[in-house]
Amino acid sequence: MRLANKIALITGAGSGMGRSTAVLFASEGAKVAVADLSDQGIRETVAEIKDKGGQAIGLRADVSKSEDVQRMVAATVEQLGPPTVLYNNAGIEGESAYLAKMPEEAFDQVIAINLRGVFLGMKYTIPHMIKAGGGSIINQASIAGLIGVRGGAGYAAAKAGVIAMTRVAAVENGRYNIRVNCICPGAIETPMAVRIRKGVEPRQQAINRISVLERMGRPEEIARMALFLASDEGSFATGAPFIVDGGWTIL
Ligand SMILES: NC(=O)c1ccc[n+]([C@@H]2O[C@H](COP(=O)([O-])OP(=O)(O)OC[C@H]3O[C@@H](n4cnc5c(N)ncnc54)[C@H](O)[C@@H]3O)[C@@H](O)[C@H]2O)c1
Repeated sequence: MRLANKIALITGAGSGMGRSTAVLFASEGAKVAVADLSDQGIRETVAEIKDKGGQAIGLRADVSKSEDVQRMVAATVEQLGPPTVLYNNAGIEGESAYLAKMPEEAFDQVIAINLRGVFLGMKYTIPHMIKAGGGSIINQASIAGLIGVRGGAGYAAAKAGVIAMTRVAAVENGRYNIRVNCICPGAIETPMAVRIRKGVEPRQQAINRISVLERMGRPEEIARMALFLASDEGSFATGAPFIVDGGWTIL
């Protein structure tokens, strides 16, 4: 059990990569706090974990709202103990439009959830991690934070911001035995990917262009990177963006 005695708080754990990671972490012995906006998503993930013999609680929270995040962290501490693993995974794809046509509200919304949400998650969890003697924070970035992606001005800015903020948090908290890393997934087959793909172009054509492996990634292939970073196997990794993209960024 690679996460025995760990308490993991995972946002956006009601779907996609967050759910896969929650299930994997629980199977490795972590007690998992499943946080999401969607009650149904929370219920399904918690049920899957419990069916497999793991431990989990469900917490409804909007990561862009300070009160929600504070409540989410307090409930985790109260019901499971101080989180020693935090995966700030919740995010939205946001509206896709070229920058000059991007509505201001759409830009603000994706920044609020994908960037401010990560800030709030770290801000309110770090004091508990310090008291617990350390931990591992994993932030969900994207290769959109590294390369140009048409139609995603707000999304890309948020993800680049997550990569930058990860470095700041790592530098500030290394002395407390807290490691902070981020993952930059490529195209991963999740409900979000299905929404993005809708009506864009023939599926295989798109996939061939975005992966030298000529397929999309599976959520569990990101969950396994998160497991490495959350566990003691990743004990010397901090401040880094871990690219798991099937080769998109080398094309
Ligand atoms: N799918 C991809 O190809 C891909 C690639 C790179 C990065 N990402 C990032 O990975 C993360 C997870 O994406 P996914 O593909 O699993 O998506 P998904 O849509 O399947 O899951 C995202 C989850 O986050 C939740 N969520 C959305 N807004 C929230 C909020 N304000 N507060 C709390 N929860 C909220 C949703 O309810 C959902 O359960 C996101 O940050 C996304 O930007 C996805």
